[in-house]
Amino acid sequence: MHTATILVADDDAVARELLADALRQEGYAVEAFASGEEVIARGRQGRVDLVLTDIRMGAVDGLTVLREFKRMSPDTEVVVLTAFGSLEGAIEAIKQGAYDYLAKPFKKEEIKLVVHRSLDHCLLVRENARFREELKGKSKGMDEWSPLVGSSPAMLEVYKLVARVTDSKSTVLLQGESGTGKELIARAIHANGPRRDKPFIPVNCGALPDTLLESEMFGYEKGAFTGAVGMKAGLFEAANGGTLFLDEIGELGPALQVKLLRVMQDQEVRRVGGTGSVKVDVRIITATNRNLEQYVKEGKFRDDLYYRLNVVRITLPSLVERREDIPMLAHHFLQKASSGGPSVVRGILPETIAVLTQYRWPGNVRELENAIERAVSLSHGPLVTPEDLPEAVRQGALDEEERKLSREELAHDAYLTLEEVEKRHLIRVLKEMKGNKVKAAKILGIDRRTLYRMAERFGLDIGEEVEGTDKEPA
Ligand SMILES: Nc1ncnc2c1ncn2[C@@H]1O[C@H](COP(=O)(O)OP(=O)(O)OP(=O)(O)O)[C@@H](O)[C@H]1O
Ligand SMILES: [Mg+2]
Repeated sequence: MHTATILVADDDAVARELLADALRQEGYAVEAFASGEEVIARGRQGRVDLVLTDIRMGAVDGLTVLREFKRMSPDTEVVVLTAFGSLEGAIEAIKQGAYDYLAKPFKKEEIKLVVHRSLDHCLLVRENARFREELKGKSKGMDEWSPLVGSSPAMLEVYKLVARVTDSKSTVLLQGESGTGKELIARAIHANGPRRDKPFIPVNCGALPDTLLESEMFGYEKGAFTGAVGMKAGLFEAANGGTLFLDEIGELGPALQVKLLRVMQDQEVRRVGGTGSVKVDVRIITATNRNLEQYVKEGKFRDDLYYRLNVVRITLPSLVERREDIPMLAHHFLQKASSGGPSVVRGILPETIAVLTQYRWPGNVRELENAIERAVSLSHGPLVTPEDLPEAVRQGALDEEERKLSREELAHDAYLTLEEVEKRHLIRVLKEMKGNKVKAAKILGIDRRTLYRMAERFGLDIGEEVEGTDKEPA
């Protein structure tokens, strides 16, 4: 970790020195300036993490400083300093990209908190930029399967296992919730092994009735059943030399379980209605989002087949178990969704990333992919905003926020600040009113504009303020 570089700009010497001293005590490298011109000149000379600038200064004011820094180095965070009681300038500044504001007279705890938060945020923005670069490099040599995105410890564990099994013929059982990337991993195992030039054939065992699935998998001879006008080879034969991916293996009926077991033992298939058999060399990878052991215990799945399939097991983490991968995945899907189309969307607002990382994602990576795809088609500007996300995601993130607050309260076992009480109360009322802002404002005894301002102050996303869209209470 490098020491963060912070610039302070204020024409009031007392405020400037007080702030600079407080930050030096926290161990930051601080440089102080008495005018907008000077701090902008310093900005041109090299990397700065954070700028604290007074709004009202001589010729070059805080908003100009903000705009200049956002233009020169977009990943430098800017916090504006406001005179006591004048929030108007602060709100304008935040609209123009300032991360936060500090009101005078400064309180030491508040300085610490705001600076800390801004620096964290700055780090996040830089990481995002780095992710994009990494992805660009990665997707260069990619063949037909999409790249695997994610560098969380849980995914590194998965990659390690994948690397170990690519060269062998061992049967692999992929376990994981829906949308965690089981098929993608199966394809990766195939594409990185010696069978890569042979077919990879996915079969969804849950999608067809057993009799149809049987003739699909094993083929049939002419006249095997009504309508079997000629011989047809099954998917096992089609996959010869390559990989057969049996998805939702838990849904396989008892008769087919026996037949599959036999094929695996004998390495040959017998077509439906046939007498002879055909040699096949097929690697089998299976996947399930069910608890197969439980199925075995309940007698729904043969234990002998289970042991054959479960030679190597790879368990995919759910998305909440690897939240740190969410920003990178989101950017990956953004790139995927906006390439080739007329889309102008180039990035994702940090607030949007915050909502994305807070949500629980029951549908895992697939749900995230859908959310980004939808956002790209809805977005009006170059950056994806929280409003572009599905309602459920924004609401879910609010729920998480609420739980976190109550956990924090428990952890402190102390009094909440008034601010925290206000925030919690606001979230509760909004939730109970299902996001209806007119109703919520009425209950809180404030007008709608105040409600929006409060939400903005607490960093809550409650949707766009559009005249006439909020329903009057029934
Ligand atoms: N690590 C990852 N990196 C990039 N994309 C991913 C990753 N994991 C999953 N995806 C994408 O998410 C979507 C769902 O993945 P996949 O179909 O492999 O999931 P699954 O586990 O097979 O889901 P299901 O159980 O519902 O069939 C796909 O579009 C896939 O490309
Ligand atoms: Mg799947």
